[in-house]
Amino acid sequence: MILFATQALGGNSDTLRSRAEKKGLFIGGAMRLYKETLDDPKYFETFKNEFNVIVPEHVMKFDATHSSEKTYDFSGGDLIVDFANHNSMKVRGHTLVWHEAVPPWVNQYKYSRRKLKAILHDHILSVVTHFKSKLLCWDVVNEAIGEDGKISREGIWPRIDKGKHLGDYIKNAYRWAHQADPDVLLFYNDYGTEEINKKSDGVYNFIKDLKKEGVPIHGVGFQVHISYNEPLNEESIRENFKRFSDLGLLLHITEMDVGIPKDVPLTPPVLEQQAEQYRKVFGACLATPLCQAFLTWGITDKYTWINQVTDMTAPLLLDEFYLPKPAYRVVKSLLD
Ligand code: XIL
Repeated sequence: MILFATQALGGNSDTLRSRAEKKGLFIGGAMRLYKETLDDPKYFETFKNEFNVIVPEHVMKFDATHSSEKTYDFSGGDLIVDFANHNSMKVRGHTLVWHEAVPPWVNQYKYSRRKLKAILHDHILSVVTHFKSKLLCWDVVNEAIGEDGKISREGIWPRIDKGKHLGDYIKNAYRWAHQADPDVLLFYNDYGTEEINKKSDGVYNFIKDLKKEGVPIHGVGFQVHISYNEPLNEESIRENFKRFSDLGLLLHITEMDVGIPKDVPLTPPVLEQQAEQYRKVFGACLATPLCQAFLTWGITDKYTWINQVTDMTAPLLLDEFYLPKPAYRVVKSLLD
């Protein structure tokens, strides 16, 4: 429960969206298409009033679009694209190559490298072609680099590559996506990379090499799944964002949320501390010339993935009643 919620959002023309658009920025969140949200008109109302970009939480992932070898299902993604068009919003495509959300027909079988490569090729070509000219960008590859800054062996996709060629599957993913839709912007997306550290060094060096080799990649996404009291070094974030921007890459904050442990009461100081985390990251984005979009993973504390997968809760800008939290006000004031 939020103790000090003030006025509701409704009927207000001074929104995050209106302010972001004056600055030429994208502001948005992940959209969930489950019964709970489909039965909640306020959810969609809030999306279109407050935000101008949507990223699907599930429906464009591999297991949702390609649940068996010969079956493609784009219905969820199409719904989101329709909703976005109808309301003059953009859509970020998420995601083509990830170690999670891989359906059993891919994960459980022992394919040759060649067959696995053909599966990924077919997937990328089919999905990107279906959404051709309808998206702002694609998170082509998600979470492929480890804490140590090296390309990870986690999941099935790295098995496409032989030892010293590890990483070729990533390069090909970008080439295939570009062939299918030469106009869509292609991103690499990861978590734990907002500050300068081993992992962000690895991502930086890898993308730099891709660019040198002429692999089509245009942007980098920072997920920023963090907690309200973890130390965040603002200087380091700004420096880090700047070095990616200096490579000529677009930057998107793609999935920010700031969790609070379920046993910590949501008092004003705790919510202020949460807002401060948003201030540091969004402020760094605004200070970076090529930082173009700021998205949270969900829009209301009513529906957030962290409730299920962690012992944390209440990570977003709006509370479970869609009332603005201090974090909302901080983000809005930065858009002044
Ligand atoms: C999450 C969804 O929110 C969950 O509902 C699902 O169970 C797992 O995936 N990084 C990502 C997102 O790139 O796709 C993840 O989304 C959260 C972490």
